[in-house]
Amino acid sequence: MLKDDVLKLISRENGYISGEAISQKLNVSRTAVNTAVKALREDGYEITSSTNKGYLLTNNPDILSKGSIAALLPDSRSGNVHVFETVDSTNNVLKDMASKGVPSGSVVISDHQSGGKGRRGRSFSSPSGVGIYLSYLLKPDSGFDKISDLTSWTAVAVADAIKNAYGLDSQIKWVNDLLMNRKKICGILTEVTVEGESGLIDTCIIGIGINVNESGFPEEISQIATSISIENGGKTFIRSTLAAEIIKSMDKLASGWPDDSYYLNRYRELNITTGSRITAFPQMAENGQGRTGTAVEINDDFSLKVRFDDGSVSDLRSGEVSVRGLYGYT
Ligand code: BTN
Repeated sequence: MLKDDVLKLISRENGYISGEAISQKLNVSRTAVNTAVKALREDGYEITSSTNKGYLLTNNPDILSKGSIAALLPDSRSGNVHVFETVDSTNNVLKDMASKGVPSGSVVISDHQSGGKGRRGRSFSSPSGVGIYLSYLLKPDSGFDKISDLTSWTAVAVADAIKNAYGLDSQIKWVNDLLMNRKKICGILTEVTVEGESGLIDTCIIGIGINVNESGFPEEISQIATSISIENGGKTFIRSTLAAEIIKSMDKLASGWPDDSYYLNRYRELNITTGSRITAFPQMAENGQGRTGTAVEINDDFSLKVRFDDGSVSDLRSGEVSVRGLYGYT
């Protein structure tokens, strides 16, 4: 859309940019530029205009738009970034695009999801105006054996993006929750499609949901979930900044996949599960509850080595663990 291109140019400029310069760069009329600026003002951008100097962006509102994300990416990158106001699930939209042949690295972002999906068939609450719901398409050349590592690599990539965007640290709870002050700020859901004939992986849709500017959560999840804003004094964070950093971080992941040792080392640094008392699900103890033990280490394949209280040692590859001291587990 023209208004996205106009926003990109105005927000990249340190001072004023003339209407003439915009119309030349975008090869459109001055009237079209004026109309686009009017539409941006209606969206909430404050754009000052001066007869001699042109346009100046005087505020940076937290609007997740194609223009505000593209302003932070190289021009060659933003073509494959698709931004929506609302979708059912960004994973579903990208899966559909992938079936029509969009390239690896394509990204779908939405301000709201009406049917956000979580792990294990759960829903993922995705209100508008506060979160980032982003899916990244990877068409890997690797086989099935490594694919379960992808979610762990993504947790590292998102933690790095949060650090680059906002200078803030986050931690990883095995296997793929990102935490701030011991509560969850981000969930990741990777969905894989397999080519029927060869049995090889066709596409990986990596879905990332981040609580950025929520000011509170319903009672039933307030022990578990938090937002970056809540953990930082209620400040509003510009979501486009983080969305652009996630794209850069995921591009780095894609170019390192599947052999970059950085991701395992960094995962071990960020993980706060090892050394803790845990309850593992769905491994059931005789009493029908989860099995309790102590998390020992993250293995080279990102599985979690656990010493259970009956003395046995197992490597957990999937499933969930409750970690004592996290999410209200005492
Ligand atoms: C979880 O913690 O259970 C995983 C949540 C994953 C949510 C993201 S939001 C973007 C993408 N689209 C979805 O429908 N789900 C993922």
